[in-house]
Amino acid sequence: MQKITAAITGIGAYLPEYILTNDELATMVDTTNEWIMTRIGINERRILKEPGEGTSFMGVRAVNQLLESTDTKADEIDLLICATVTPDHIFPATANIIADKANIRHAFHFDINAGCSGFLYALATASRFVESGQYKKVIVVGADKMSSIVDYKDRSTSPIFGDGAAAVLLEPNYEGYGVVDMLLQSDGVGRHHLHQKAGGSVKPPSIESIAAREHFIYQEGQPVFKWAVSKMADISVEMMKKHNITSEDITYLVPHQANMRIITATAERMGLDPEKVMINIQKYGNTTAGTLPLCLYDYKDKLKKGDKLILSTFGAGFTWGSIYLKWAYDPK
Ligand code: UT7
Repeated sequence: MQKITAAITGIGAYLPEYILTNDELATMVDTTNEWIMTRIGINERRILKEPGEGTSFMGVRAVNQLLESTDTKADEIDLLICATVTPDHIFPATANIIADKANIRHAFHFDINAGCSGFLYALATASRFVESGQYKKVIVVGADKMSSIVDYKDRSTSPIFGDGAAAVLLEPNYEGYGVVDMLLQSDGVGRHHLHQKAGGSVKPPSIESIAAREHFIYQEGQPVFKWAVSKMADISVEMMKKHNITSEDITYLVPHQANMRIITATAERMGLDPEKVMINIQKYGNTTAGTLPLCLYDYKDKLKKGDKLILSTFGAGFTWGSIYLKWAYDPK
């Protein structure tokens, strides 16, 4: 039997119109454009301002653009996975809501919560369904409305995050293009350093939890930074060694966009020139599950069939991982 690989065959994206600049942020918390640019590398981020709208508002727009650009009918989709840490509701899954709004009626859908590694884990999961031969058209969405859990009184987290969504279509490939390999890891010891304290079953929302600002992101920046630098670099280098790929062979590193210094350290450990690294952190900040597909979206016109990409992430959990894939098509 012919070997099936799971190839990305299209990308759609949605970014809210509102731009929150560093200068505007400096009117909300005690910070400066210079501090944010030198310590994180973010110039501005997008914020979803539509009243009463959440992550699915962005996700469905990314999916609709994807369906249109790939000439795919909603009814053809077999599976939709949404990676997010900011679901519309605790339940049902945001994937169910996106699929309903996109009129996807003949598929099953579920969410994956793996912090900033969510899209990578979802892509890995989705690719196994495609490789099985049973599922022919699978959508993976990475979407987060981080502004819904950012404390705009906390200067250590508020500069980092932004809102955005992107989606990819995965289809079977019989020529060896697509996902070649995946290395995924987690260590729950990291859960204390980056989490949301209240709102779950341990501490349901209460007047006290709201007063204590426990529904916002809690992050201890330095341990997260140290883990991110070492784990993202280690797992990317491990992937290179496993497949005997040199820095010359790699067309692009597609890194999670959390901090420019983490991206640079990872690229240096891999021996990559800066032009081989996808970067859009300056425009969107850290959109959590959105960062990887938004990078692919921004660079889609530069990608050619056969290009070798290493995707690499680190996030809450802790979770981290790397995917090696061969790009399956020339610019459309
Ligand atoms: O995607 C999920 C994974 N998350 C990450 O990868 C985030 C990882 N962590 C980081 O990126 C960095 O740790 C931060 C960007 C969060 C912080 O950068 P840092 O270089 O680790 O700064 P720091 O926490 O060590 O703080 C250095 C100084 C402190 O002042 P003192 O004590 O030296 O006087 C902070 O109070 O910078 C101060 N500071 C700020 N100053 C101006 C912290 N935040 C700000 C701010 N503006 N926004």
